[in-house]
Amino acid sequence: MAINALVIGSGGREHALAWKISQSQLLGTLYCLPGNPGTAEIATNLPGSADDFEVVASAVSQNGIDLVVVGPEKPLVDGLRDFLEKRFPSLMIVGPNASGARLEGSKDFAKRFMSKYSIPTAEFKTFDASSVKESHSFLETLKPPYVLKADGLAGGKGVIIENDLQTAKDCITEMFSGKFGKASEKVVIEQFLSGIEVSVFVLTDGESYVILPEAKDYKRIGVGDTGLNTGGMGAVSPVPFADELFMNRVEERIVKPTIAGLKAEGIDYKGFIFLGLMNCAGDPYVIEYNVRMGDPETEAVMTRIDSDFLSHLRAAATGTLADEKVAFSPLSAVTVVITSGGYPEKYKSFYPIYGLDSVKNVTVFHSGTKNSAEGVVTSGGRVLAVTANAPTVVKAKELAFNAVKEIDFKDCYYRSDIADDIVNYQK
Ligand code: AMP
Ligand code: GLY
Repeated sequence: MAINALVIGSGGREHALAWKISQSQLLGTLYCLPGNPGTAEIATNLPGSADDFEVVASAVSQNGIDLVVVGPEKPLVDGLRDFLEKRFPSLMIVGPNASGARLEGSKDFAKRFMSKYSIPTAEFKTFDASSVKESHSFLETLKPPYVLKADGLAGGKGVIIENDLQTAKDCITEMFSGKFGKASEKVVIEQFLSGIEVSVFVLTDGESYVILPEAKDYKRIGVGDTGLNTGGMGAVSPVPFADELFMNRVEERIVKPTIAGLKAEGIDYKGFIFLGLMNCAGDPYVIEYNVRMGDPETEAVMTRIDSDFLSHLRAAATGTLADEKVAFSPLSAVTVVITSGGYPEKYKSFYPIYGLDSVKNVTVFHSGTKNSAEGVVTSGGRVLAVTANAPTVVKAKELAFNAVKEIDFKDCYYRSDIADDIVNYQK
């Protein structure tokens, strides 16, 4: 039976998920809600917002959808799966219920979960407005830099890393006074971990799991990892230090106890688990869990999956992942994000984008774009993610940047050093 699939979300991650699903032998019709001009080329975009569950339900019933994959975390944290499950008992859904989505929706929950199941992570304590004094005392026991995290979802901005003790104390006070709204009613303070970060992606049906290709993303806006944090300026996969020994440790110390812990908590988790890891001298520690794929990591990772991704999604949704055979490409993927000048602060939109039709040897994923009378125009901070694949990371980088230079819009910006650390990496 052909599968009608619906991808929820509108960014580069969702374009990449849709792009991979569109190659499946099992696919009937592919829909995105709301999608973007990139997904419109490979799928039918449906109007509406993923935050409006009734709109999603209408899309499912009107289009005979068999399988839904949820891109962003917010609808999952808000209970989209729970809602759809009740309405459509036989619908296949990739993405956890609200209970499972607490792994991302509450840092306090995630940290307590890791402590309970002995999953390596930074030492921590959680405080609220009634325990300001205690939070200051705890800070005094730590060495700088101090890591302060809003408990709830804060659009990727809820983490503060501060060197000065007094400033850190003041930050805590600001957080309790609503710096991140309800998200910072509770604050997690944790030990600073030093090392190199890597993103590891797990697809699970609650019992079995597959580990997808790992990736590294580049979060800061400036060359050399300087300046403000962004949603991600680029990605590379594979990551050389994530070798067999490291990945075995990730699987034994983190993936297995996470899946077992979820089961023990009575959480039937069907979806992605994105492990944000720190490699501390060869030992993996969890910095954060996300309950979705990463962006822009997905734009690199999808290009390295050779097996039928829709089949894997169906298996995750139906509890048959143990029988799935996955195959990954040995090629390197380098993804360069092109942003609007000024991002992640103020930027302008609606500038025409030139050169999209002339690029070669790459896959271009749309993030913040819109169709207009003048053709495709910019409509967000992160505009496009350009991915190249090649036998070496050096070649993939060269192909990606050759294409990026062909694409132009007013005030466009990209980081010219994506993948340099991987190219220069020595054991
Ligand atoms: P999160 O939103 O939890 O991913 O945190 C954002 C970023 O802050 C991470 O990607 C890390 O670069 C950094 N970070 C978070 N927690 C720690 C920690 N305990 N030690 C060092 N860096 C951290
Ligand atoms: N690239 C990091 C994230 O998606 O959260």
